Amino acid sequence: MNLHNANIAVSAVSPAQYPSMVIPEFAFVGRSNVGKSSLINKLLNRRSLARISSTPGKTATINFYNIDDTIFLVDLPGYGYAARSKNEIKKWGEMIEEYLGTRQQIYQVFLLVDSRHKPTADDVLMLEWIRSYQQSVVIIATKADKLSKRELEHNLELIYTTLELTDDDVLVPFSTKSEEGKITVWDMINLLLEGEDSSDK
Ligand code: GTP
Ligand code: MG
Repeated sequence: MNLHNANIAVSAVSPAQYPSMVIPEFAFVGRSNVGKSSLINKLLNRRSLARISSTPGKTATINFYNIDDTIFLVDLPGYGYAARSKNEIKKWGEMIEEYLGTRQQIYQVFLLVDSRHKPTADDVLMLEWIRSYQQSVVIIATKADKLSKRELEHNLELIYTTLELTDDDVLVPFSTKSEEGKITVWDMINLLLEGEDSSDK
């Protein structure tokens, strides 16, 4: 897979607008401002393919990034941004639900939580929700560079217990300021792709 060959394929608000190309999709979900778009850029070694802003609510559509016609990385709109109108929040919820509930080619959903904080009630709900659609979820603790090693260890424990994770779950600390977590996420993606190649489907 040539990571240089990455581009935004589609910004969608409804299933009719999703890309018609059927290739494995890896979706990134999480609170507004948690770092979903930044993580996608980091994975691709790009500064600004996915739009980032210090203002929450930047990503208001489902953005499909086509990586070398091999996979899509999917940036979902963030939830939990209070300054949105009720109507908008409802629309976003439906957008996320439609995508997770109908898209067959989702290989893995990654739920991003902020490593600095205890996961919110919204994070807990989102995890339950994703689990009801997908067999497994990978949790990514973002902005790990903002904590000392000690604080990070403590907070990973807090995330683990608050989200009621088990040994079957994966929790990955991630930072855009270093290489932390990047290889792990790519390894997981590649492993899932290899699993597909060697199956007799
Ligand atoms: P929405 O599109 O609103 O849902 O937000 P998002 O989840 O896509 O977050 P985004 O990537 O736009 O990042 C939000 C802010 O957090 C930006 O100012 C980023 O620079 C910052 N940020 C993201 N990841 C990291 C990280 O690992 N370390 C640090 N220090 N800052 C980060
Ligand atoms: Mg974003």
